[in-house]
Amino acid sequence: MVGMSVITLDSLSVPQIQDLLHKARYIDAHRRQVAHTCEGRVLATLFYEPSTRTRLSFETAMLRLGGQVIGFAGAQLASVTKGESISDTLKTVSNYVDVVAIRHPKEGAALVASRAASVPVINAGDGGHMHPTQTLADLATIQSRFGRITDLTVGLCGDLTFGRTVHSLIETLCRFGNVRFVLISPNELKTPQYVLDRIRQTPSCSYVEVSDLSEVIGDLDVLYMTRVQKERFFNEDDYLRLRDTYILDETKLSLAKDDMAVLHPLPRVNEIATEVDSDPRAAYFEQVRNGMLMRMALESSVLGDDLPGYEPLETR
Ligand code: CP
Repeated sequence: MVGMSVITLDSLSVPQIQDLLHKARYIDAHRRQVAHTCEGRVLATLFYEPSTRTRLSFETAMLRLGGQVIGFAGAQLASVTKGESISDTLKTVSNYVDVVAIRHPKEGAALVASRAASVPVINAGDGGHMHPTQTLADLATIQSRFGRITDLTVGLCGDLTFGRTVHSLIETLCRFGNVRFVLISPNELKTPQYVLDRIRQTPSCSYVEVSDLSEVIGDLDVLYMTRVQKERFFNEDDYLRLRDTYILDETKLSLAKDDMAVLHPLPRVNEIATEVDSDPRAAYFEQVRNGMLMRMALESSVLGDDLPGYEPLETR
């Protein structure tokens, strides 16, 4: 993985993803031992779109590995406001840093950035397309809850059209195989055809599309809730009509299995009632922590900085 850009998780093999999961668990257990792994390295976080978790966890990850961070949060403070292209920005920033994490509202922007950069670029979310490091956090959370990523019934609920975390997660779970997807959305926010095609092309996976969460919640091992993405709607009235279609509360959760895991990439608006937070099935704040650990694993891997004492999964 040394020197690689990560725009989608398709660029990583399944054993490489498994090794990242293993590495994150090692980092968690050896925080002090890994604290100098990336000493002398600099990460740039170029966030053209708002973020709390992704930017702060990319930055914390590098700081916890002993490196440093530069960047901007909000394109209004950067020279893009003077008309600078993404390519020119990346050609410039490549002179300053060792690795870049970029978030941008346009699909494909991270790929454009990686083509211009001379250092690895990690996609921190590009429009409604992909969010690969969120998927790494999701996988780590599923694995820690079930001890596996396959042979599960995974429900994805809410905005399945614009939810890039949903698209990334489905694509990656298909590569692990043996997943039954239950796609729960209103008619206006259904899963894009290219994502459905990906499931269809995977013989060990299947999907159903439904609109009623209560009808299917009892079948699920994982319920992945999502926010209706206001910023990607063209029409405010449509957003207002659809935003509260699904609200997971304790009454609905009482219909679910005792060991179902509730995931959410966050931020949430109304789609999970705060009363659910204290339910043992709520896994979304664990997911946040896993996001930082997985970004530590990824940053050290693309930089080729070995974690002291770590034995890669393949050689064990
Ligand atoms: N999950 C996620 O991408 O959160 P932020 O938008 O806060 O980064």
